[in-house]
Amino acid sequence: MTRTAAGEAFATRAVRAGQGHDETTMAHATPIYQTSTFVLGSTERGAAIFSGEVAGNAYSRVGNPTVGAVEAKAAALEGGEAAVAFASGMGAISAVLLSLLRAGDEVVILGPLYGGTRSLLEDLLSRFGVATRAVTDEELAGAIGPRTRMLYVETPTNPNLRVHDLDLIARVAREAGLVSVADNTFATPYLTRPIEHGIDIVVHSATKYLSGHGDLLGGVVIGSAEHMLEVRGMGLRQLGATLDPHAAYMLLRGMRTLHLRMEAHCRNARAVAEALRGRPGVLAVHYPGFADHPGFAVAARQMSDFGGMVSVELEGGRQAAAAFLDSLKLFENAVSLGDVASLACHPASTTHGHLPKAMLEAEGVTEGLVRLSIGVEAATDLVADVLEALATATRVAVGA
Ligand SMILES: Cc1ncc(COP(=O)(O)O)c(C=O)c1O
Repeated sequence: MTRTAAGEAFATRAVRAGQGHDETTMAHATPIYQTSTFVLGSTERGAAIFSGEVAGNAYSRVGNPTVGAVEAKAAALEGGEAAVAFASGMGAISAVLLSLLRAGDEVVILGPLYGGTRSLLEDLLSRFGVATRAVTDEELAGAIGPRTRMLYVETPTNPNLRVHDLDLIARVAREAGLVSVADNTFATPYLTRPIEHGIDIVVHSATKYLSGHGDLLGGVVIGSAEHMLEVRGMGLRQLGATLDPHAAYMLLRGMRTLHLRMEAHCRNARAVAEALRGRPGVLAVHYPGFADHPGFAVAARQMSDFGGMVSVELEGGRQAAAAFLDSLKLFENAVSLGDVASLACHPASTTHGHLPKAMLEAEGVTEGLVRLSIGVEAATDLVADVLEALATATRVAVGA
């Protein structure tokens, strides 16, 4: 049984945190408060809510009870003081960056990152005077300069499952007085809780494992009450990427079974990774649970299992990757991940396609790389599907 630092078992928090019966109606399920605004009661009370003197709902862009239940559950699962929910992962990430950075600041990243995040940093924030520098774990301690304000990391990384050391990142950030941010979308709080390693802020694309069923977009940020006040006050209130109450309800429902789904994702991912490893036509299988994965020791320390994602690098580059993807029958060729249904995609031409080729090659996002999000179907069917598709891809690579 996975226990969080705060004591209560993870499964109990997943099912119960943030949710209880509704005191007004005694409804058992969390109601969907599908309302844009809330009656303030009196001008005096309205002023007190808006000034932050008293807690209360005022306007759904900034707070809503159904969305609040998501926030309470996310904070409980990650072991943070507070959380703020958003309309998408990118909404959450842009809110964190824009709330906490100023012109002249530098963000040090450990790559690779999801293409959207990288592009937000390199292409958009650069216009507002925020610089980004990519370093390796080994370079990190010596890379901090006078302008560095934030360390930003994903672990395991999208799309090639590199593992970064959260203890190291938190230590470097603390010693230099920086804010550390970890995107925990791939690991989920069931496997890794970055705050327990000293990371300040956790971000998620809740579109993925937290919701788990590929039917909504959402994001969430977790951290100290002080940081979350800034993220809500600036990043949510001013930017307005607010989670809709109906999507919040579906997200809550998904989060209740995170622990059950993750067990199955992890089990199936190992089966698929082991089946593909060493096969003709396969140059590499990236899966942090293999003892010879460069990040295995760190993964074994900071993850309770190795996740539901596997990336496979095929001999024959883009042509082999396309032949493999086009031959899959159970896996659907689609971006996104963390769905109960298995998905596969070609990152170099989709999720990371807009980034410079040299950057992608340097960070191991090759033309032959296929990213697999392993679902919770029967492992035997998933293994049969990837092996059949591999046989086709291998024929393409040898020109048969
Ligand atoms: C690691 C990671 N972070 C953030 C995002 C962005 O999330 P969203 O698509 O919900 O905006 C993604 C999307 O794929 C992702 O994989």
